[in-house]
Amino acid sequence: MVRLREVGFECVRCGVTFRSTKDLVACKVCGDGLQVTQDLSRMSYDVVKERWRSRPIGVWRYRELLPLNGGGEVSLNEGGTALLSVSVIGGSDPSVQAFVKNEGQNPTGSFKDRGMTVGVTRARSLDRRRVICASTGNTAASLAAYASRAGMECIVLVPSGGIARGKLAQAVFQGARVVGVRGSFDDAMNVVIEAAKRLDAYLLNSINPFRIEGQKTAAFEVFEQLGGRTPEWLVCPVGNGGNLAAYWKGFQELKAIGAIDRLPRLVGVQAEGAAPIADAIQRNLKEIVPVAKPVTVASAIRIGNPANWPKTLRAIRESGGLALKVPDSEILRAQEVLARREGIFVEPASAASVAGAMRLANEGTFDKSDRVVCVCTGHGLKDPESALRSYGESPAVDATVEAVVAAVEAAQ
Ligand SMILES: Cc1ncc(COP(=O)(O)O)c(C=O)c1O
Ligand SMILES: [Zn+2]
Repeated sequence: MVRLREVGFECVRCGVTFRSTKDLVACKVCGDGLQVTQDLSRMSYDVVKERWRSRPIGVWRYRELLPLNGGGEVSLNEGGTALLSVSVIGGSDPSVQAFVKNEGQNPTGSFKDRGMTVGVTRARSLDRRRVICASTGNTAASLAAYASRAGMECIVLVPSGGIARGKLAQAVFQGARVVGVRGSFDDAMNVVIEAAKRLDAYLLNSINPFRIEGQKTAAFEVFEQLGGRTPEWLVCPVGNGGNLAAYWKGFQELKAIGAIDRLPRLVGVQAEGAAPIADAIQRNLKEIVPVAKPVTVASAIRIGNPANWPKTLRAIRESGGLALKVPDSEILRAQEVLARREGIFVEPASAASVAGAMRLANEGTFDKSDRVVCVCTGHGLKDPESALRSYGESPAVDATVEAVVAAVEAAQ
C-alpha cells in the first residue's frame, strides 16, 4: 500500500516546517504555500540512474524523488511525453536548438495528469472519498479522470461559460459534478478552500504540494531526453504559476543529487490581458498586483490573481530568468505556425510559450547553440472552437471528382 516517505513540508515564504499535511494547503503561520522537502544529501544520481533506466519513462520512473512509495498508485500512465526538436523558433539564428515538450500527449491531454497521479494517490492514502478543485478546465478534466480511476467522487468549480468545451466534456463525461461559478477562475478559487472543508473534500489545486511533486518529473524527463543535459532556457506558460515552480524544483533536485551542475534560466510567459506575474518581474515588484478582470483567448491562463505567485516570482528570479507578456494575436499566430509547420496542435495557452520564445529569438536573446525548451502544456483538441474561429467550416461540395477538384483548385 502507498505510504508517505520521510519528507517535510516547508512554507515557501517564512520557511516554517510541518511534518504532515493531512488537509493543510497553506502555512499556519503566514498563510503562504507549502512545498515538500526531502533530505537528498544521501541520494546520488549515480545510484538512482540505473533504477530509473530500468523503468519506463513517466512520472513514477522517478519514485525515489517522489513523496509517496510502496506501490498502489492511481495511475493512467502519465508523463513520458515527447521532446520534439522544432525549427520554427530559432528566428534569424538557426544554431539555436529549440524543442517542444509536448505535454498534450498525457492521458487527459495536459500536463495536469503528472500532478494528479500523485495528488489523487495521496488522497487515497488518506482514505479520502471525495476530491475537489477550482479550474480553468484542464485541472477539472484531469482530476475527474483520476478520481474515476480511484473510485472517488469529484467536484469541480469552473468559471461559468469560461472554459473550453473539450475540457468541459471530459470533466462531465468522467463523472465530475461540475459547478459553474459566476465570475472568473479567481472567483472560483476564492471559494474552493472553504468549500472543500464544508464538503469534506480533499483539495487538489496546485497549492497542494503533492501536485507539484508530480509535475516536477517533467524536468527529469527533459534532462534525460537531452541526453543528460540542462537546457539553457526553459520557457513555460504561466497561469497560477505552479508548473514553472515545479520545473524549477525538479532541476534543483537534479542538481542536489549531482546529476547536473548548472540550472536553466526560466522564462514565464503570460497573455497580455492576464499578466500579473510578468508585470511584477518586469517592474521588479516584491508582490504581484492582481488583475481584476483578466482577458485572453487562452482560457487556461486567464488568471488574474495567481495562487502560486511567491514561488513563481522566486523561481524566475533565482534562475536569472525573465517573464514576458504576449498579445493574443502572437499566441494565435504561434499556435498556427506550430500546427502548420511542425504538425504539433496545441491549445492557445500552450502556444504562449512558443510565442514568447519566438519573440526572444527575434530579439537575439539566445546565444549560439543554446538549447531552448518550450513547454506546450495542453492539446489543441481541448479547444476546437478557438481553432475553428480562425478558419470557419469548409463548405460541402457534391460527392463527385469534378466538384472535389474544383473546390481544391478554388482554394489555392
Ligand atoms: C494548458 C495550460 N497551460 C498552462 C496552464 C498554467 O499552469 P499553471 O497554473 O501551473 O501556471 C494551465 C493551467 O490551467 C493550462 O491548463
Ligand atoms: Zn509561512
